[in-house]
Amino acid sequence: MNKAIRWFSFILVGLLTCGTAMATDVATLQPQQWQTIEIHAIPGDIPELRGMPTQAELLLPASIPEDADEAVLGYLGATDNIAFLVYASLFGVIALFIIFIMVNGISRLDKGFSGKMIKRWSGLSVSVHWLGAIACILLMLSGLILAGGRLYMEPGMNASSWAALVGLSSGLHELMVFPFIAGYILMILMWAPKQIPTSYDLKWFAVLGGYINMGKKQHPDAGFANAGEKLWFWVFALFGGFMIISGLIMMFPATFEVSKNTANLMLLTHIVSTVIISAFSVVHIFMATVMSEGGMSNMTSGYCDENWAKQHHNLWFKELK
Ligand code: HEM
Repeated sequence: MNKAIRWFSFILVGLLTCGTAMATDVATLQPQQWQTIEIHAIPGDIPELRGMPTQAELLLPASIPEDADEAVLGYLGATDNIAFLVYASLFGVIALFIIFIMVNGISRLDKGFSGKMIKRWSGLSVSVHWLGAIACILLMLSGLILAGGRLYMEPGMNASSWAALVGLSSGLHELMVFPFIAGYILMILMWAPKQIPTSYDLKWFAVLGGYINMGKKQHPDAGFANAGEKLWFWVFALFGGFMIISGLIMMFPATFEVSKNTANLMLLTHIVSTVIISAFSVVHIFMATVMSEGGMSNMTSGYCDENWAKQHHNLWFKELK
């Protein structure tokens, strides 16, 4: 309980500090987080890369303090490319998926809806999914501002609106970490047994799950989870884990006693994981909402139509019967 109060106070103090900083420091736009790292800050280093100052370039000093790795700093210094990659992993993949659906169409139920519903997910699973998913979406949106706002948004804003936007995004980003971690751990623990790869998963990938409408209609074998869902699950498990570890280390540099070099490496890990998770999330959301007719009820009610189960998860349906 004491720990919970300490965490809560930490978040509250963090948000207040952020707010006060926004009110008083508009002119200098100095970041108020990262105190430990900031003491040894290299111009353009982590706090600045989070979008606070106006300076876009990473200026490598003549001598690199501590053990900061020049190569890692070099990658992090490519702030425009990082911003582009992060935005492309979201908006670029959305654009590609829209084009794909316009050309290919969606996957309809061959025999329409039967009207008979089958239980697929428990109420707890549905709640855990939305706990992790909503937090993940808010992390992605606030992350967009932190990673590329300086390049894409700041030029069109005045200094105080920009400082307020970054302050809010930074606060939201750090607040959403906790529901995300809870959702992540529960999803992994509860669902991993259903996501074990099998031999027929390769066949599923070979025909892209039967989602391509051109040519002969195919519905490859799938158990409770199909191969695409399993891939998403394990990518989420791996890169979501990297994101959490790197994020926590950056958030609590004093607790983890990180060197500047480790902190920079963590930021790089965080960015790479973000790009991968964002691209996969867009595909996952499109598959659930648009691409697979009848798929969305799984995560709203926990139930699916019998014909949806037969068409997309034939082996699971047989097992149930
Ligand atoms: C971006 C954050 C999200 C994460 C991390 C996430 C994660 C997951 C995971 C790990 C699964 C289980 C894998 C599987 O068997 O399919 C799943 C299932 C599902 N998700 Fe998400 N999800 C997210 C967002 C969304 C959104 C925004 C929607 C819809 C608007 C959605 C709809 C679904 C549906 C319908 C299923 C069930 C699929 C089935 O029963 O076969 N998810 N999600």
